[in-house]
Amino acid sequence: MTDTTLKHLAIIMDGNGRWAKERGLKRTKGHEAGAETIRDITTYCADHSSIETVTFYAFSTENWKRPKFEVEFLMKLLDQYLKNELPTYQKHNIRFQAIGCIDHFSKALQKRIKESEERTKTNSSLTQVLALNYGGRAEITQAVNKLIAEGKKSVSQEDISAALQTPYSDIDLLIRTSGEVRLSNFLLWQVSYSELYFTPTLWPDFTTEELDKILKDFEKRHRRFGGAV
Ligand code: FPP
Repeated sequence: MTDTTLKHLAIIMDGNGRWAKERGLKRTKGHEAGAETIRDITTYCADHSSIETVTFYAFSTENWKRPKFEVEFLMKLLDQYLKNELPTYQKHNIRFQAIGCIDHFSKALQKRIKESEERTKTNSSLTQVLALNYGGRAEITQAVNKLIAEGKKSVSQEDISAALQTPYSDIDLLIRTSGEVRLSNFLLWQVSYSELYFTPTLWPDFTTEELDKILKDFEKRHRRFGGAV
């Protein structure tokens, strides 16, 4: 069995800080540049025929450990991003959805997230998912607890998949930028059979041209899902 149709792309965006440092800039400038890259890559995906969902790791449960001013900056940037992005979502027919535990965010930011989801919910060319205060283990644990609360004595893989916060297809391709080779607690259940691609490019330097090359490489891969060669 082989399948090289790319429906769900996931991206671990890494390297904003190093990008800024290389230029003698503050880390926050790297995050601003990174937000621009999210926009470019999302609109590219919306125009790509097979991609239905692109999920970005925007804020992990571990990111709270960063200095307070950086966390506050990231929150403000997210708010600005969602505010400015609405016309782009509508123009390119993109639906926005958030995953993760957003209850920890300010009420105003939660409102912005909910409004963006609400206003784009009928858009259908692409779903852009931002993982916000997200952790893969927490998501799986939550799913199992939900099933227990529903009275299940034992659970199947299908039950867990359906109870996850991400009711999307499994990830076909996961890309991580900046040369780090790890998953960092991202979509652990959904990456079981994903193709993985690690690039040394720092996230703000990641372009649609590089994505295009990666997609061509993906098409050549022979996905076996555990079957024989
Ligand atoms: C890692 O760079 C990046 C993140 C903290 C997550 C991605 C955040 C953005 C792209 C900022 C904008 C996001 C939105 C949704 C508007 P790093 O700081 O860990 O880089 P480093 O490893 O080089 O220090």
